[in-house]
Amino acid sequence: MIPIARPQIGEDEKQAVWAVLESGMLAQGPRVAEFEGKFAAYCGVRHAVATSSGTTALHVALLAHGLGPGDEVITTPFTFIASANTVRYVGATPVFADIDPLTFNICPEAVEAAVTERTKAIMPVHLFGLSCDMDALMDIAERHHLAIIEDACQAHGATFRGQRAGSFGIGCFSFYPTKNMTTAEGGMITTDDDAIAERARVIRQHGMRRRYYHDEVGYNFRMTDVHAAIGLAQLPRLESFNEARIANAAYLNAHLKGVITPTTPEGYRHVFHQYTVRVPGGRRDDVVTGLRERGVGCGVYYPVPVHRQRIYADVTCSCPEAERASEEVLSLPVHPGVKRADLGQIVKAVNELCGP
Ligand SMILES: Cc1ncc(COP(=O)(O)O)c(C=O)c1O
Repeated sequence: MIPIARPQIGEDEKQAVWAVLESGMLAQGPRVAEFEGKFAAYCGVRHAVATSSGTTALHVALLAHGLGPGDEVITTPFTFIASANTVRYVGATPVFADIDPLTFNICPEAVEAAVTERTKAIMPVHLFGLSCDMDALMDIAERHHLAIIEDACQAHGATFRGQRAGSFGIGCFSFYPTKNMTTAEGGMITTDDDAIAERARVIRQHGMRRRYYHDEVGYNFRMTDVHAAIGLAQLPRLESFNEARIANAAYLNAHLKGVITPTTPEGYRHVFHQYTVRVPGGRRDDVVTGLRERGVGCGVYYPVPVHRQRIYADVTCSCPEAERASEEVLSLPVHPGVKRADLGQIVKAVNELCGP
C-alpha cells in the first residue's frame, strides 16, 4: 500500500536525538532556542516560540491576544477540529465563514459578512498547504481592527505573493508526523510582534517571568530538546521535501482523469501538505474503497465540516460549499517518499475508477 503520509527520518534526525539523550538535558533548552531562531529566520519573522503541538500554538496565540468570553473569532468550518476548538478553549466563540470552492480556503467576502461588533480576530487556515488570500483578509482585519491568527499548521513554506505563510499575522504551525516537516509532536508560533512573543513565552511556561514567581495562570506547553533536535535536522530538508511534493502534484495534475485536480492561483506557492481532488457525483466513498483495493492509500480531509460536528450542534451558519467539499474531497499521496512508479500506480488506479 502506498501510504498517504510517511515522515522522512534519516541519520541526521537519529543522531540529533541521540546527542540530546546523551547530553542529559532533555526538556526545553538550547536545542529549542536554536530551532526557534532558525524557524523564525525561515519564515522571515523576528520571533518564533516553540510549543508542544500545533493545537497548543493556536491556544497560546489566542490567549496572548487576550481573547476570551464574549469575543468572536471568524474561521473556516473546513479544517481540522483543533482550529475551532482552540477558540472554545479560551471561552471565545468561533464564527464560521464558508469556503471558496476552488481553493478550499476561507472566502474573504464571507468573512466580511460575518464581522460583528464582537469580532476580535480572524483565524484563516492555509488548508492543504495553500495560503489563504492574505491581501483581502489583511484588508478586512485592518478596516475592522482585528487580529489575524494564521493556522499555518499545514503550510510550512507556502507563500502568498512571495511572503511566507505564518508571517502575515501571528503564525501557528504543527510538526505532527504527517506534516511537511516533523518533530514527532510539536508546534511553533511565529510573529514580528515583540509583545505577543513575550506573552506567548510566559503563557507557555506556567505564567512565569521570573523563576517560580507566577503573576498569571499559564500552562506547560513546552517543546522538549528531543523534539527540537528532530526539527533542526528536518528544517534544512524542508525545501527539498516541498519541491518533491510540488513535482509529484504536477505529475498527478497532468495525468489524472475524471476528477477535479487542485488549483494553485497565480501568485501562490502551494506546498501540497495534501493533494486533494474532488470526485463529484456522489462516488467519492466508492473511489476510496477502489483505491485501497488497488494499493493506493488515500484520505478524506474532512468528511464532516466543523459546524456539522456534534460538539458544534449549537452553531447556526450557512456554509454550503464546506458541506459539498466534505462530500467530494479525496486526498492522494504526494509526500517525498512517493516515487515515479508509485505515481504511475496512483494514476492508473484513479483513471480506472474515475476516467472516461
Ligand atoms: C489545520 C490544522 N490545525 C491545527 C492542527 C493541530 O496541530 P497538532 O496536531 O500538532 O496539535 C492541525 C494538525 O493536525 C491542522 O491540520
